[in-house]
Amino acid sequence: MTRDAFDRRTWLRRAAGLAGAGLAGWSQPARGEWAEAGAPRIAAAPPVWDTAADRERRMRWWHAARFGMFIHFGLYSLLGEHEWAMDREGIPIPQYERLAQHFNPHPHAARAWARLAREAGQKYMVMTTKHHEGFCLWDTKLTNYCAPRQACGRDLVREYVDAARAEGLRVGFYYSLMDWHHPDGYRCKSDPAARRRFVEYTHGLIRELMTQYGKIDVLWYDVHWPLNAREWESEKMNQMVFSLQPDIIVNNRNGLAGDFSTPEQHIQAAQSGRAWETCMTINDSWGYQRADRDFKTPATLVRNLITCAGGGGNYLLNIGPRGDGSAPEPEAQALRAVGRWMARNGETIYGSDRCNCKSTPFASFTRKGNTLYVQVHSWPGRTPGSRWMPFFRPPAVAAIGGLRTKALSARVLKTGQKVAFRQDDLSVQLTGLPAHAPDAPVSVIAVECAGEPRIDPLYVREHRQRYKVGVSWS
Ligand code: GLC
Repeated sequence: MTRDAFDRRTWLRRAAGLAGAGLAGWSQPARGEWAEAGAPRIAAAPPVWDTAADRERRMRWWHAARFGMFIHFGLYSLLGEHEWAMDREGIPIPQYERLAQHFNPHPHAARAWARLAREAGQKYMVMTTKHHEGFCLWDTKLTNYCAPRQACGRDLVREYVDAARAEGLRVGFYYSLMDWHHPDGYRCKSDPAARRRFVEYTHGLIRELMTQYGKIDVLWYDVHWPLNAREWESEKMNQMVFSLQPDIIVNNRNGLAGDFSTPEQHIQAAQSGRAWETCMTINDSWGYQRADRDFKTPATLVRNLITCAGGGGNYLLNIGPRGDGSAPEPEAQALRAVGRWMARNGETIYGSDRCNCKSTPFASFTRKGNTLYVQVHSWPGRTPGSRWMPFFRPPAVAAIGGLRTKALSARVLKTGQKVAFRQDDLSVQLTGLPAHAPDAPVSVIAVECAGEPRIDPLYVREHRQRYKVGVSWS
């Protein structure tokens, strides 16, 4: 919509009407267009879904969930050479399309993923409904390049949605804006007619996903190349999504901020107040890559999950099933191991709050209210080192320097055993710990504090008593 079609009075009326009228029939020009057209200098009321209160409402379950399963599944899964093979290996489209004549995953594949996710302690799933390759896994009216109209003959998104719901998991759709297959997928950059068609196609596909499967919990956009948010009409895209799914949350990869940030393959807490989710592979590939054996250990995965939860973020951990839909066994085993740990220690992750305590060499931290969970990954038991120097540090003592909150009690989470402790100005020292780690791969000690636990990382350095230079201390 251009500025001419939209006078100031209409704009004010529509913006004001939004709160009472909901989103139905509301059409807002893309904000980018306003800026370019030199719109009147009024602070436009944000749409309902872009307000703090509505975001808080929509995201509550997601914050509590902390742990989700990402699934990269498409024609590339049959190839087993990573989901970028079509582009990186320069596979001609007619040749790549032939995969669609063979792609026919096991009908129970999605159920097995959902069961695995539940066993792992994951609370939601996000599956690729269309990856960069352009192949749609659902029953779309807009292209024949989709699972139901090729060899498979089934709606794989329907199977996935049903499977997730059957296991009590929330449902997310990944959707790649970038498309290597569609004839307009690149020329849309320079050809306005192609852009018109391609944007309509894209919005149409998303509309189908938002209307054909009931309530959807997450829309996970990916790669907006080669267009920017204004060219994609991303404001309008989100507006359509929220009008169809008022409870949904969306990420930030259609060129707009969305509800949460998406650090990829690394853990980086967003600034306080901004939701974030690290997405990560178990090996080094999203889509099935038969040659990639670089699997992370359960210990690494648990520690990553703890780091995310401690920073107030989520961990979206990927599996890359084979073409028949089966998850590679090392990935399934790793997830089950994480799940066994979560079954015992889930209370330290689910519903946890952002924690200001940075990790130490032996532990990292999560927090719920005034409880500090000391997540010990290197148990300070009777290691050879401490046997040789018992006078220096008694065995099985863990000290947390710079804790500025009074500790009231401490216990081993797994056994409930009380842990004696001392606290002075510089640290709290947990004494009398069991000689051996009570749990694996991480043992948790719950420390109840008098207020929100807070570690000042500079406190010890700045406040410890020092000797005068030159004075003997023997
Ligand atoms: C990157 C990759 C893509 C993958 C995604 C997951 O965008 O290009 O293949 O799906 O990361 O976050």
